[in-house]
Amino acid sequence: MINDVNKLNPMIREAERFLRNFHEENGLPLDEYEERMQQVITLIRETGTYTHTFEELKYGARIAWRNNSRCIGRLFWDSLEVIDERAAETEQSIADALLRHIAYATNEGRIRSTLTVFAPELSDRSNIRIWNHQLIRYAGYQTAEGIVGDPASIAFTEQCLQLGWRGQGTKYDVLPLVVQLNGREPKWFPIPEAYIKEVELVHPDCEAFNQLQLKWYAVPILADLVLDIGGIRYNAAPFNGWYMGTEIGSRNMADIDRFNELPAIADVFGLDRTTNTSLWKDRAILELNTAIIHSYKRNGVSIVDHHTAAEQFMRFMKREQDQERSVNARWSWLIPPMSPAATPIWNQSDLEECPVKPDFSAQQCPYETRKG
Ligand code: ARG
Repeated sequence: MINDVNKLNPMIREAERFLRNFHEENGLPLDEYEERMQQVITLIRETGTYTHTFEELKYGARIAWRNNSRCIGRLFWDSLEVIDERAAETEQSIADALLRHIAYATNEGRIRSTLTVFAPELSDRSNIRIWNHQLIRYAGYQTAEGIVGDPASIAFTEQCLQLGWRGQGTKYDVLPLVVQLNGREPKWFPIPEAYIKEVELVHPDCEAFNQLQLKWYAVPILADLVLDIGGIRYNAAPFNGWYMGTEIGSRNMADIDRFNELPAIADVFGLDRTTNTSLWKDRAILELNTAIIHSYKRNGVSIVDHHTAAEQFMRFMKREQDQERSVNARWSWLIPPMSPAATPIWNQSDLEECPVKPDFSAQQCPYETRKG
């Protein structure tokens, strides 16, 4: 289809690969593909870029999810909802679209897997950056008495403070949305409380646990990855699924360098912390994870336990193999952080990871490298 000169242009090559897959997988006629490709080549030649149709965008975003080697939840890749906000071109209209994403995805707890796509990066001067790691996340403050809040948020919280934001200084202050356009000074926007769904943790059979007053937010909305489709880099393309309980119970709240709640939980249950052999950490992790699944369910907030998620992943693998597609996988990320050997993914350690597009990948953090 494309001649040797066009093959030298990396964007044309990427576009060709993507559009061929798009047409093939969706069973579209060959002449439609050829016509579209001709149009895209002309556009890239004349303007240095091209614009995806909404259908291409939706397909590309779904395939990026399907391709993501670290995600155990990919059985549902085909149901990702895509919101096109490529027309948003001020900080305010982008922030408004982010709030709409939060509301749509949260859906009063019946979480919808959603991706919002903003205009792609064209150059340093035409570039949208969302500074948040996730749209909803707790602040972290370094204080004389130690860290308050989420230690993983300290650097970003400092940036927010420098920009003029003020938190209340609690363990669970939700950070503002921070949007930067074209390398200019970023703007911050508080998230109105009504948008933030949180779940207070209660234990199904331990009253004392509830006094710990633990909570977590309902929807994890990753905002700092770049979505690459057909050679176009969408570096503002936040997306969410729903939580697997262990993300919160075995990592966010359990890790020593995160909320580090295990000692307090062990004490509530009267476990012996003077010796490893009491397995107090394991028992505390189990009770915490039990409380998380119980509380999310009780509040009607979507959540999946790691056994069910692992079974779903096995079904995903089977389905992909039936379609003669290979499954891109990083085993160390796919096994859950709790009882991994009790899930069927444990025996899949020979799964392989390879570069495939469309994909989500990390991009340079906009603030650590910021001068001045
Ligand atoms: N592990 C991250 C967190 O705990 C969220 C990553 C995305 N998770 C998801 N279930 N889609 O906040």
